[in-house]
Amino acid sequence: MATRSFDPALVHARMDRMYRPQRFVYDATRKFYLLGRDRLVDSIPARAGDRLLEIGCGTGRNLLRLGRRCPGVLLCGVEPARSMLELSARRLARRGFAGRTRLAWGTAETLDPLAQFGVEAFDHVLASYCLSIIPEPLPALERALAVLAPGGSLHLVDFGPMDRLPPPAARAMRAWLARFGVAHEPDVRAELERRAAAGAGKLETVEIGRGYAELLRFTLPARPGG
Ligand SMILES: C[S@@+](CC[C@H](N)C(=O)[O-])C[C@H]1O[C@@H](n2cnc3c(N)ncnc32)[C@H](O)[C@@H]1O
Repeated sequence: MATRSFDPALVHARMDRMYRPQRFVYDATRKFYLLGRDRLVDSIPARAGDRLLEIGCGTGRNLLRLGRRCPGVLLCGVEPARSMLELSARRLARRGFAGRTRLAWGTAETLDPLAQFGVEAFDHVLASYCLSIIPEPLPALERALAVLAPGGSLHLVDFGPMDRLPPPAARAMRAWLARFGVAHEPDVRAELERRAAAGAGKLETVEIGRGYAELLRFTLPARPGG
């Protein structure tokens, strides 16, 4: 559920302003600091017939990797920056994935699986370095969990607390990320821990690079309430 102040039009405008000028150098530059993406993507146990959604799919690089590794999986992506969405659509089509790709211009907070992708729910939802750029990530997290099918999993990779990095390095990194409105979001993990403790799912965590980044996987019970 989006907060009262949430305005998708502002998100579209902000993200397009940020990403339109850098979309063609995005992948080449991000590989040096968006760590753990391939590890997360390669750990997703998607099987033929599964429905997978990436929230904030950007240039489509994760969907492309998934498409190559997981034949027969429906690849869906939602992205607020029109420029990025168009780029990912072109790339996925060029690589021959158009037939099993569905992309939508939208936000995590306003996800509507049936209207946007023609499916009731997803077996896998992925968010890669996306929640850290959302100023209030909990409504997005809540929506991502709400669109999961029973037994489905949410797969997250994002900046971690950086608490075991040398303090000057952690300070410099946090300050640099803040220039782009990006920050580690401890509330996301805390919310997933709270849900796991309440029996609403199982949480698995992996730390990368002394807390630089973290992978979180939250899996719902196979039957609601089970
Ligand atoms: C750092 S990029 C990561 C892109 C891609 N997931 C990757 O791993 O390369 C963050 C992405 O999240 C998108 N984004 C920002 N706010 C969003 C929101 N409210 N809902 C969905 N996506 C959002 C941005 O437009 C951008 O494409």
